[in-house]
Amino acid sequence: MTLPLLAIRDLHAQAHEKEILHGVNLTIFPGEIHAIMGPNGAGKSTLSKVLAGHPTYTVTGGDILLNGQSLLALSPEDRARQGLFLSFQNPIEVPGVSNVKFLHAAVNAIRKARGEERLDEESFQKLLAEKMALLGCRPDFATRDVNAGFSGGEKKRNEVLQMAVLDPVMAILDETDSGLDIDAMKVIANGVNTIMTNDKGLLLITHYQRLLNFISPTVVHVMMEGRIVATGGADLVKRLEAEGYDWLQQGGISHAQP
Ligand SMILES: Nc1ncnc2c1ncn2[C@@H]1O[C@H](COP(=O)(O)OP(=O)(O)OP(=O)(O)O)[C@@H](O)[C@H]1O
Ligand SMILES: [Mg+2]
Repeated sequence: MTLPLLAIRDLHAQAHEKEILHGVNLTIFPGEIHAIMGPNGAGKSTLSKVLAGHPTYTVTGGDILLNGQSLLALSPEDRARQGLFLSFQNPIEVPGVSNVKFLHAAVNAIRKARGEERLDEESFQKLLAEKMALLGCRPDFATRDVNAGFSGGEKKRNEVLQMAVLDPVMAILDETDSGLDIDAMKVIANGVNTIMTNDKGLLLITHYQRLLNFISPTVVHVMMEGRIVATGGADLVKRLEAEGYDWLQQGGISHAQP
């Protein structure tokens, strides 16, 4: 039997004494793409940050398992070394550190944790060039400081470039599509589809069907008020697009995963 890649079990989490996640359950098997939709303030970004180990959030119950190992006691860096990747809804700028330097250091930290040899300058440049071509990045992406002065769409593209270079086993993309023009979204969706192989997992947080037309999710979940309240397929996305979320508040709980 295949083991889940990511298992979120009855996860409760709070920030500043206020509980935001009220028992989230989600299981992602290798090769699966899950999408989470849900209204503003539902807890989607909180879930992604709790998975990544963001220090603002405290887990008060439940567990997060990556390949059967609990992540709760691990630092964000150690979670990344285990193969977890999170792209932020609002990517941070790191002035003074070039993308090349940042990515080279990050790749080697992860390779070290896996017991692999470090990539030398030349091999890394080759890897970076290949991934930049895959994602249609402008050449100055490499030499510019991380996200500094990048447009909204460029930051999103840069996050996916980081993902492509780091090659995580489990990636979470938080609203990577927001702010992308149509052409950029197609290129990035294509890139994500190329990166995504059947040993990996992907969790996409999005507000709109349009991204899901390019990256086909295995399952779609709806999160509301800190819980997954419905799980389904393409039909669910279509209904949400047409009717919004109100119908789920009126007894929609029965659609939830057991
Ligand atoms: N650090 C924090 N301190 C206090 N409240 C927080 C904190 N982080 C999140 N919240 C609250 O938790 C709720 C969920 O926020 P979150 O950012 O997870 O929503 P979201 O589903 O990602 O929404 P959006 O679709 O707008 O991105 C919101 O009411 C938010 O104000
Ligand atoms: Mg959010």
